[in-house]
This record gives sequence, structure tokens and C-alpha cells, in this order.
Amino acid sequence: NVNESLSQATGLIADAIAGLTAPQKTLSPKWLYDHRGSALFEEITKLPEYYPTRTETGILRDNASALADLVPAGGALVELGSGASVKTRTLLDQGGHFDAYVPIDISADFLFETADDLRRMYPALDIVPVVADFTTPVTLPAALEQTPKVAFFPGSTIGNLDPERARDLLSGGRSWSGGTAFILGADMVKDTQELVAAYDDAQGVTAGFISNILARLNREAGADFNLSAFDYKATWNAPLARIDMHLVSTRHQVVCIGGRDITLAKDEPIHVSAARKYTRDSLDRLARSAGWTVATLHSDAMARFSVAVLTPAA
Ligand code: TRP
Repeated sequence: NVNESLSQATGLIADAIAGLTAPQKTLSPKWLYDHRGSALFEEITKLPEYYPTRTETGILRDNASALADLVPAGGALVELGSGASVKTRTLLDQGGHFDAYVPIDISADFLFETADDLRRMYPALDIVPVVADFTTPVTLPAALEQTPKVAFFPGSTIGNLDPERARDLLSGGRSWSGGTAFILGADMVKDTQELVAAYDDAQGVTAGFISNILARLNREAGADFNLSAFDYKATWNAPLARIDMHLVSTRHQVVCIGGRDITLAKDEPIHVSAARKYTRDSLDRLARSAGWTVATLHSDAMARFSVAVLTPAA
């Protein structure tokens, strides 16, 4: 859809200029996920260093029937930031419990391709893709108004949001789900080396994924970033319990975007994403701040990752 991509391009340019003219330069991680970025992210999920996806998939598989049973008969499982919906299949494979699966993603083409695949795989299920940025209030198709809904937000994507945004998303989910349940995947604090490696793999796939945001600005916003003049850097930020991902300018340079000149000093970082890590305590606090409570915490044997079932706080 031409209008949709035009309005996305306008949003992209405005957002990029705002971020790049701020005292601490930033680019929003939501722009990482164009079609190419979504495909690169699928590669990340298969990397030896990137333990979250396989750990979470194991937890989902071990608890699949209990989790699928949270969705009432005739209801819908609504996933935020569904990507290729690979690990969700462990729940969809349970079959029979619910009528609809609603994948929500910002990457329209990628989402529609995935929806087509899912329709072939689950002919009995109503697949209702919704193109949306889940960091803004979620609007679901009117046809789903009367349908009982359970929210599914895996992948520790919650950790990519600022704490206030994370709280807003969870409390928003409390209203649009009607307060049934919210299934939340969250990565846990662990050994620093292991965490950093998950976001800075030896093959450089993550570096490529992050630099794609500059390539996208060149493609869609007419910017002139020289990708070889940036290094990728992932660091553990202990006070904030998060991995910070930066693109660092390797030299003094001036970049043009949307008719604006942006000056970068040598070694100046652009913050592109954060990945917050949780403890049982910080997860409890986050849930409570949004009107939920952690009813069940499913984990792997090593407690590396958690799938929390949130239910409305009393
Ligand atoms: N939700 C994923 C995570 O926080 C997203 C992610 C994985 C990511 N690797 C990344 C985001 C690298 C930006 C850069 O683990």
C-alpha cells in the first residue's frame, strides 16, 4: 500500500531527525523492522549465542497446554510483535482451544507473508493479521470486540521498551484483553559475558541487523550514511539492568537526512536499542505497576528466561 509506506517514510524521517538532533543521539528500535530487518532478526534467533529464543521456545513447549488453555473456547490469542510467529506455533499446535490468532506487527509485508503461511498450517484457525506499532495504543478489528482475548508478548520485547512504555503497554493490554490473562516473555539478569554475547555475536549478524537501520534511512529517507564509518557496540548497563546497543561513529562526519545536516563526532554513539533484563522482583513490580499480578512464572531449569502468566491484581 503506497499511502501506508509514504506515511511510514514521513514518520521515519521525522523520528530519525528528532533522535539524531537530541543531545544523546538515538534511533528508535521500531525502525529496525522493515522486511529485511525482520528477516535478519529471524537469523538472530538461530544464533548459537542468542539463547533467548530457544530457551523461551522450550518453556512454551513444556507448558503449551496450560498456556493454550488460558484462551477461552471461541477466543483469540493476540500476539504483539509477532515477527515470523515461529515459537507461537508451539501454542497453536495445541489446537481446538481457541478460534483465532491475531498477530500484530509493524512490518506489513512480512506479517502478511507469515499470515499466509499460518493459514496453510492451521486451516481451522482464523488468522487475523493487524499491522500496527504496538508501542502506541492497540486498536483491534471491531469484529473481535465480543471475542475473549488473551495477550501474548514473548521474546522479552517488553525489555526493548522504556519502563513507562512497558507499563503503559501492560495496562493497555489489561483493558483490551478484558483482563483475562497476559502471557509475557522476559529475559532474566545473568552472567554479563553471556548477555553481551547474545547481542554481539561472532558472525556479526546482530551488527548487520542494527546497521540495517542506517541502510533503511538511506533507502527510504534519502539519507547518506556511510555504513563502514560506524561500529556496532553492545554493553551491559548494570545500574539500569540492560544491554545497550549503539552504533558508534568511527570518525568525525556529517550525514544528511531529510535536508538536515547531522554532525557526528569521532566515537560518538547513536543509541539504537536497549534490552532490559529482569529478576523475579522487578517483574513482579512491573506487573503490579500495570494492574496485573504474576500468577505463574514458567522458567527453564537454569532460570535464564521466564514466561509469566499475568492475571488482574486483586
Ligand atoms: N526482543 C529481542 C531482545 O531484546 C530483540 C533483540 C534481539 C534485539 N537482538 C537484538 C534488538 C539486537 C535490537 C538489537 O532480545
